[in-house]
Amino acid sequence: MISPEKKMDLLVSLCKRRGFVYPDSDIYGGFANAFDYGPNGIELKNNIRDAWWKRFVHGREDVVGIDTPIIQHPKVWEASGHLATFSDPLVDCKKCKRRFRADHLLEAKQAEPGYNKEVPLHIKDVDCPECGGELTDIKNFNLMFKTFVGVTEDSANVAYLRPETAAGMFTAWKNVRDTMRKKLPFGIAQVGKAFRNEITPGNFIFRTREFEQMEIEYFVKPDDSERAFDMWLNEMKIWVEDVLKINPKNLVYKEISESDRAFYSKRTVDIEYQYPFGQKELYGLANRTDYDLSRHQEFSGEDLRWLDPETNTKILPHVVEPTWGLSRTVLAVLVEHLDVDEADTSEGETEPRMVLRLPPRLSPVKAAVLPLQKKDGLADIGRELASKIRAAGLVVEYDESGSIGKRYRRQDEIGTPWCFTVDYDTKENNTVTVRDRDAMTQERIKIDEVVAFIQSRLN
Ligand code: GAP
Repeated sequence: MISPEKKMDLLVSLCKRRGFVYPDSDIYGGFANAFDYGPNGIELKNNIRDAWWKRFVHGREDVVGIDTPIIQHPKVWEASGHLATFSDPLVDCKKCKRRFRADHLLEAKQAEPGYNKEVPLHIKDVDCPECGGELTDIKNFNLMFKTFVGVTEDSANVAYLRPETAAGMFTAWKNVRDTMRKKLPFGIAQVGKAFRNEITPGNFIFRTREFEQMEIEYFVKPDDSERAFDMWLNEMKIWVEDVLKINPKNLVYKEISESDRAFYSKRTVDIEYQYPFGQKELYGLANRTDYDLSRHQEFSGEDLRWLDPETNTKILPHVVEPTWGLSRTVLAVLVEHLDVDEADTSEGETEPRMVLRLPPRLSPVKAAVLPLQKKDGLADIGRELASKIRAAGLVVEYDESGSIGKRYRRQDEIGTPWCFTVDYDTKENNTVTVRDRDAMTQERIKIDEVVAFIQSRLN
């Protein structure tokens, strides 16, 4: 049994070695908490994104998609409240000058064994976790990235990178509603980048300054918001447990108390995952009431109410917001499905053997074609088979170098569900061996049936 720390180390090194995630600007020594998604990482991320879009946009008649800019009108952020309140409480160590999130330090102190929860805790009671030095008072630090639009860098041209995709759905709500002839309840979905000047990011791709979100703003009649909340909670549960195949024992559906949730939220549930570095947020669901639309109505001067055709009255819809971090999903999926055991080496020692048991529809590569030998025409048959699989729109790898065992290991590490081996019998009877990643079974099928074999299992 490997420790969570060891598992995380193995995952980070596998991600680099197998082209999932690299440190960004690596040739310059890296850039703190910025990462590149490599060829396998982007396939995994796109597969998650596509499964999400297919399920929640194409799969539902009450949700439509949009794509809005990263830099919107600066008033959007005044209205949303981000400019005034979107900040983290930070403290500095007076001795070693390191910077920390005060809320994280307080949480850690409260989690210490023997901590008496009855005694109120103040940041003055906490020492620097690195050097034991004294900490400064808390300062609030706004997380918005500021930039300038146009040629002059003056206050009239200040703009911001969006810290969440949600605002685009509120500002476009009127246009979408009117042009798509939608009736309540209906949702607007968006997938895209968000930016936060996180001062204490870390834990690999868990918290980064630049990340992707998949969000839905679901507009409802005010008295329908509780039903819609329960419906989305169930949808999120199905997504995480049945689509991503995350074991429910690694998930916590945490009801956020009134004192801990945003002042406008009527109900919030965080979906937390057991990462190797602790139980932390994966997704969130909030009943945002009419806060956003009423603020945008006030700041824009536009009437954002909806005319209910049944009652002929105008109402301002309430909004239920399920939000999924895409980058964080990549991490949770990798952690969940990385299976590590000990394998014997030829030197009589052991080494970790890793298999990424991804749900096949999420695997970056769906199939590998491996000829047993390069010679005797086996490579030609293999290449032709790989081309056929590729022509069917499936990602395939053709690999003819190294021992067959090493080639299987490589495919296991990137989560390829099926390897097709071309051998001398192929020449005799037009069959190949299929090796199943998880069952480790080998069966022979006709070479002409390979594409249908993969397609039927993916569907
Ligand atoms: N519109 C609501 C909203 O943005 P949030 O809880 O601040 O809510 C939603 O963010 C999700 O975005 C989180 O549950 C998480 O999955 C992801 N997320 C937030 N900050 C992140 C960061 N710095 N790095 C990676 N993912 C992040």
